Amino acid sequence: MQFFLDTANIDQISEVRDLGLLDGVTTNPTLLSREGGDWRDQAARICALVDGPVSLEVIATSAEGMIKEAKDLISFGENVVVKIPMIPEGLKALRKLTDQGIRTNVTLVFSPAQALLAGKLGAAYVSPFVGRLDGLSQNGMEVVSQIRTIYDNYGFETRILVASVRHPMHVLDAAMIGADVATVPYATLMQLMHHPLTDKGLAAFLADWKKFQGE
Ligand code: G3P
Repeated sequence: MQFFLDTANIDQISEVRDLGLLDGVTTNPTLLSREGGDWRDQAARICALVDGPVSLEVIATSAEGMIKEAKDLISFGENVVVKIPMIPEGLKALRKLTDQGIRTNVTLVFSPAQALLAGKLGAAYVSPFVGRLDGLSQNGMEVVSQIRTIYDNYGFETRILVASVRHPMHVLDAAMIGADVATVPYATLMQLMHHPLTDKGLAAFLADWKKFQGE
């Protein structure tokens, strides 16, 4: 399973890259706006820093506008994947971008039916938003599981990128289902790593060793 970091923050990206856990990055307009400054500079820095796919999202809502923006976004680096919203105009753009060999990530996906369409049109990634579904008392992971079945049924190569991750159990459940990627906020990635018994155990080992050396 691949780990992408769901952020536009350079410090977070650098830290996770140094841990050896960074397979890619996903951004969206909200995440880039949080960083302030010139979004173009920020996007270029992220693309240069990451040795893997970087999702940058279009703002246009017409197919023509999305295609125009996609052409601009891919100039930031060879690793750019263009994020396209799951709306009818997005699907029109998706078909054309796929035909032109531009990699896409269909975002704001909330149902297996939407994912079926994205897979059929050749999206490189599909992003089901599990946390936002759970927040509406719907089962986000059930949607991921259904997408896995559909894509396996038809041999779609579209990669399932589990998004809107809120906690470590989302990552574990995604891995159990066989999702290809989880895009994880920095805080959740840190939660995955830590366990109080690890810290307690290490402290005890070090204390015992210190005592032994002092004897
Ligand atoms: O980047 C898309 C997705 O991960 C957004 O998550 O936390 O805004 O629901 P969230």
